[in-house]
Amino acid sequence: MVAQLLGLAFIFLPTSLVTFNTHAVQINHNWEVVYLDASVYGVVGKAVILECGATSPDMYIWSFTKPGTEAIKAVVYDLGKGIRIQKLAEKLGQLRVISNSAAVNIENLSVAAHGLFTCQAFYDLEGEPKVYYYYVHLTVRVPVSKPYLLMSDASPVEGSRIWMRCNLDNGTGPVNYVWKHEAHGSVSAFAQGNSSVVNVTNVNRNHSGWYHCVASNAVNSEASNRLKLETMFGPDTPDIVVTPYSLTDRGYLALERETVTLLCQAQSNPTSQYFWFYNNSEAYAGQHFIISKILRKDAGDYACLAQNTQLNTRSKKTISLTVYYPPDGSPTCSVAAARNHTSVRLLCSWPGGFPSPSLQWTTDLKPLGREEGAAGLQTNKLTNTAILLLKEGLTTTNGLFTCTGSHSALKQTTACETRTYIPPADPVCVAYVTNTKQYLMLSCSWNGGAPNALVWWEGPNGQVKGGEEVSNILILRHGTAHGGKPYTCHAKHPLLTQAKTCRLTLEAPVLLTQHRTVSVYEGTDVQLNCNLRANYLPVDEITWFNNQGVDVRGTAKYSLLRTSAWANLTVRDTRETQDSGEYRCATSNAVGGTEISVTLEVKRHPMPPNATLAKVMYNSRLRTEVHLEWQVDNKEKRDLTGFILEHSWVPERPGRRSSSSNKSKEETEERIGQPVWYRNIIHDPDVRAHTVGKLTPTVTYKFRIIPVNRRTLGHPSAVKTPAEPRINVAPAVIGAAIGGMLFAAIAIALLLIFLIRNRNSHPRLHDMLFGLHHSQSRENINFPEDEVARAAEGGMEDSGGSASPGPTIALPRASSPLTISPQSATPTFSQAHPHGDDNDPVNVTITVKAVGS
Ligand SMILES: *[C@@H]1O[C@H](CO)[C@@H](O)[C@H](O)[C@H]1NC(C)=O
Ligand SMILES: *[C@@H]1O[C@H](CO)[C@@H](O)[C@H](O)[C@H]1NC(C)=O
Ligand SMILES: *[C@@H]1O[C@H](CO)[C@@H](O)[C@H](O)[C@H]1NC(C)=O
Ligand SMILES: *[C@@H]1O[C@H](CO)[C@@H](O)[C@H](O)[C@H]1NC(C)=O
Ligand SMILES: *[C@@H]1O[C@H](CO)[C@@H](O)[C@H](O)[C@H]1NC(C)=O
Ligand SMILES: *[C@@H]1O[C@H](CO)[C@@H](O)[C@H](O)[C@H]1NC(C)=O
Ligand SMILES: *[C@@H]1O[C@H](CO)[C@@H](O)[C@H](O)[C@H]1NC(C)=O
Repeated sequence: MVAQLLGLAFIFLPTSLVTFNTHAVQINHNWEVVYLDASVYGVVGKAVILECGATSPDMYIWSFTKPGTEAIKAVVYDLGKGIRIQKLAEKLGQLRVISNSAAVNIENLSVAAHGLFTCQAFYDLEGEPKVYYYYVHLTVRVPVSKPYLLMSDASPVEGSRIWMRCNLDNGTGPVNYVWKHEAHGSVSAFAQGNSSVVNVTNVNRNHSGWYHCVASNAVNSEASNRLKLETMFGPDTPDIVVTPYSLTDRGYLALERETVTLLCQAQSNPTSQYFWFYNNSEAYAGQHFIISKILRKDAGDYACLAQNTQLNTRSKKTISLTVYYPPDGSPTCSVAAARNHTSVRLLCSWPGGFPSPSLQWTTDLKPLGREEGAAGLQTNKLTNTAILLLKEGLTTTNGLFTCTGSHSALKQTTACETRTYIPPADPVCVAYVTNTKQYLMLSCSWNGGAPNALVWWEGPNGQVKGGEEVSNILILRHGTAHGGKPYTCHAKHPLLTQAKTCRLTLEAPVLLTQHRTVSVYEGTDVQLNCNLRANYLPVDEITWFNNQGVDVRGTAKYSLLRTSAWANLTVRDTRETQDSGEYRCATSNAVGGTEISVTLEVKRHPMPPNATLAKVMYNSRLRTEVHLEWQVDNKEKRDLTGFILEHSWVPERPGRRSSSSNKSKEETEERIGQPVWYRNIIHDPDVRAHTVGKLTPTVTYKFRIIPVNRRTLGHPSAVKTPAEPRINVAPAVIGAAIGGMLFAAIAIALLLIFLIRNRNSHPRLHDMLFGLHHSQSRENINFPEDEVARAAEGGMEDSGGSASPGPTIALPRASSPLTISPQSATPTFSQAHPHGDDNDPVNVTITVKAVGS
């Protein structure tokens, strides 16, 4: 309907001049009146000229016929006597006749002038008169007045229907209406037509703006006042603008700690109110929702609700906002063996973060691909790990691998490093025994590498102890170890294609001694030694048993010096009978036991030379002191350390000395038992004279001298009775005295022998005779019947005739477990013992040998 009106513009010509349709007038000479027609248009209030012939007639009459009537009324005439204007003319306007013509000019034309004007014109009244009737149809038009615009609703709701009316008071039709719409600074024709009303169905927001209408007719055109139309609408579905903008298939995303602005825009009139909802609960009222420092917990659904309070309408839009946050800290790198220790797996882990960080393994700043030695690369987004599998035997590069982690929420990347390297040393095999001695443990370790090496044992008879990392301990029950056969430890590092090995060969200990037979003179301290041949697998303590088969520990007689490798037994103050014999030294280890024996021979010192009393004489007649001199028969150059000068009573024969009343205590003792010898000990072997004092003058004494070589007493000399100074003694008396003295000497010798042989049973007597102190007893005494080769005092010597003079043997034991360096291809412990093996004990001996590869 509106469209029908559009485009119908027309041009209005505001002429007020009458135009005759003056087709050629033929004067009819047949006395006929000529009729001519013309149409003239005039505008109210303006002027119009009505023509009556081209030339001025002699007489004329202008008449007017009002439309709808038939009456013809005169307006003005001139019958030759001047112009006569009728009263009627006043109703038509201000009328006057144009001079020298019959045309009339009507100014200030009135609407009443609308009608038919007739001019009856007469010419040539002198000759043949001619009559003309000119019909002039005058149309008086009214210009349009200023229209005014009406709207049914100046604030319609979008979609509703309104009308606009262009009201017009005056104006000759046809009138054309044009509605003009002014919006955004430009004016456009909205509708046009001959209807003063425009219907707008389905008003929309584009219709808002200023309107006016223009009414036009043949005379003029007038514009109305302006009216504003404002369409009420909305809110439309909101637009949400997220700043900073980042849209993914997950929705919008923000980085943690960023400031995020949510702007909601919904087209609406009047303007909407905005409300924000987070996960369906109201969070904020307003158009700009600013989340400063957004956190991961702020992720979720954000909805904007726009509300048009006037229309009571609302609309809503929801977006989902994802917050990216980095994992904490930095990635951690680790290295582990893979594929049964044939390959290396580098693990880079950086848990947390959303989305998963990206992890990249590089070496020497180059990414690791298959060419660079990566056998496989796998990234697990769920666990945030990147696993790089290296090719077997890869020892290229410097072994430094870097895992770089990057995350969109972090400006900088962060990295961790790990190294791969072969253990610097070789695997180490060690054997040791548990404290309870129940178990033997073979330990193999190869540490210091990255990743860890795999270590496993292979023993004799297919005994296997499966692989463990870094170290592996094979436990054997005590006594179940196989002697002599190697236990091999294999150690495999992923960076090496070949496994390394070290070996332990178990052997029972072997004991050695320097001398199987030790001879020593009586009275000395002697040391028997016993040591392990090699540094064996842990052995028990070395134990010494004495000649009675008794463990020597904790006795004063013996002192024991012991280390793990040897045990020295010292027998103190040796005695021939007590200490001679076979001593045993024993030990064992997990593989077996061993012992060796050492024979100790305690010998007496050799006999000193014979001595003879050369002079025995009282010093004076007082008979209290006797001076003695003697000689030594030392043709054989025997050792001599001193002398014992002895004296004793000579028992009185009955009747010979009547002074029995004078009997001393000594005399009484003598009668009761054996004769008692009183002794003077002379320590100087070079002395040959001595004076014995404090003698009883009335008693007869006998003297003898016994040479001494340490503990060995020589033959007592012949007994002598002291002589009176310069007094002759009756030979009979002397002979009797000598006989008595000889008897006594033999008895004393027998007593001494008895005492020395049985000193244990008669210790007091022995000590009385030979001295109590040990210092004194260093004067060792041997009996004459001992046949002894001269030896250094206190020294040891091999018994020359011994069938086994060779060194004797022992086995190793380190206080710490023995360690074997695999670098040396030969076992460390196989030291040769001093003289060869001809005298090795028969025991099974097992050395620990280690061979590295
Ligand atoms: C309309 O015409 C009448 C009579 O001719 C006149 O009185 C009136 O003022 C005119 N109205 C306008 C708006 O021109
Ligand atoms: C406008 O609507 C009215 C009533 O609904 C109707 O009478 C009139 O004819 C319509 N005018 C046009 C131009 O469609
Ligand atoms: C309003 O005008 C714009 C452009 O002028 C147009 O894209 C839009 O569709 C119009 N709206 C309606 C409801 O007609
Ligand atoms: C909001 O919704 C998201 C997605 O449904 C959910 O992951 C998040 O935990 C919710 N947040 C709260 C605070 O409920
Ligand atoms: C792992 O390696 C060892 C030594 O190379 C081998 O004895 C063992 O059978 C291997 N195990 C597997 C499952 O391949
Ligand atoms: C023990 O005997 C060994 C010889 O077997 C000797 O080398 C060592 O010095 C002795 N130790 C002591 C403390 O005497
Ligand atoms: C030493 O004296 C004893 C007994 O008096 C005698 O048997 C021995 O032959 C003597 N020895 C020497 C070398 O004269």
